[in-house]
Amino acid sequence: MTKKNVNRVVIIGTGAVGCSYAYSLLHQGTAGEIVLIDVNNEKAEGEAMDLNHGIPFAPHPVKVWSGDYDDCKDADLVVITAGLAQKPGETRLDLLAKNTEIFQQIVKQVMDKKFNGIFLVATNPVDILTHVTWKESGLPKEKVIGSGTVLDSARLRYMLGEYFDVDTRNIHAAVIGEHGDTELPVWSHASVGMENIHKRIEDKAELEEKALEDIFENVRDAAYHIIKRKGATNYGIGMSLLRITQAILHNEHSVLTVSAHLDGEYGEKGIYIGVPAIINRGGIREIVEIDLNETEQEQFNHSATVLKETMAAAIT
Ligand code: LAC
Repeated sequence: MTKKNVNRVVIIGTGAVGCSYAYSLLHQGTAGEIVLIDVNNEKAEGEAMDLNHGIPFAPHPVKVWSGDYDDCKDADLVVITAGLAQKPGETRLDLLAKNTEIFQQIVKQVMDKKFNGIFLVATNPVDILTHVTWKESGLPKEKVIGSGTVLDSARLRYMLGEYFDVDTRNIHAAVIGEHGDTELPVWSHASVGMENIHKRIEDKAELEEKALEDIFENVRDAAYHIIKRKGATNYGIGMSLLRITQAILHNEHSVLTVSAHLDGEYGEKGIYIGVPAIINRGGIREIVEIDLNETEQEQFNHSATVLKETMAAAIT
């Protein structure tokens, strides 16, 4: 379908994550055109029909349809959520072999349509699959972005907001590294309002430094706890994808901990990994290199090593 003068987002994969993201996009009026692509075309058609019936309540006019790879040619953003998802007890890295195969097929089909927009990857293991997308697409690295630890940072801010009883919008905290078991919290740069988080705990007798460790463990293991109860996660990641989409399409220059390609930043190169980056209409404007303390730097380098070793073993 010929694109009108609006933002077009193509979502590949209409499972729970893709549909939660599509629903968020429609609700926020972030894109003028939302195209759903799935190997199960009937599913994509049904999802598009269902979403269309909510359009009268949407804040802005939007066109939603189940399409095909031809619709990628004029897309501003192609978001990949397709692939196998974690089952109870599975790590994200366990999904690599099968999802790499799926991704190589998807990215080739998108690029065959001369796509020249931005890729946003959500499927796990997201850091390595973003790397696969970048390599297969041939696009510049700043135009290939992974959801990274945006969701993990949101989880941390939510849980800290609950602990300190403060609006999460005034909790500044980030998780970086692999979106997975080796991710790490950057406590050295965490604050409640303008007050350093450790100082705040010091000032409040009823608060305990140890609570931070417990909170981070719940962040790191959140997906396992949710998958055990409902079989998958979708709303948090769907809204994280929306947040990244808004930063891109609204040219926000916002800082988000997306999965970005490193070329020496944080002492690492040649991998995609969750780091703070400034996001605008062109994708990743720049990577923000914060001063990590010794422990954080060690944890980050360990996380990078796990990703590099996993990638080397799986992708020839
Ligand atoms: C999670 C999935 C998106 O952390 O990896 O919920």
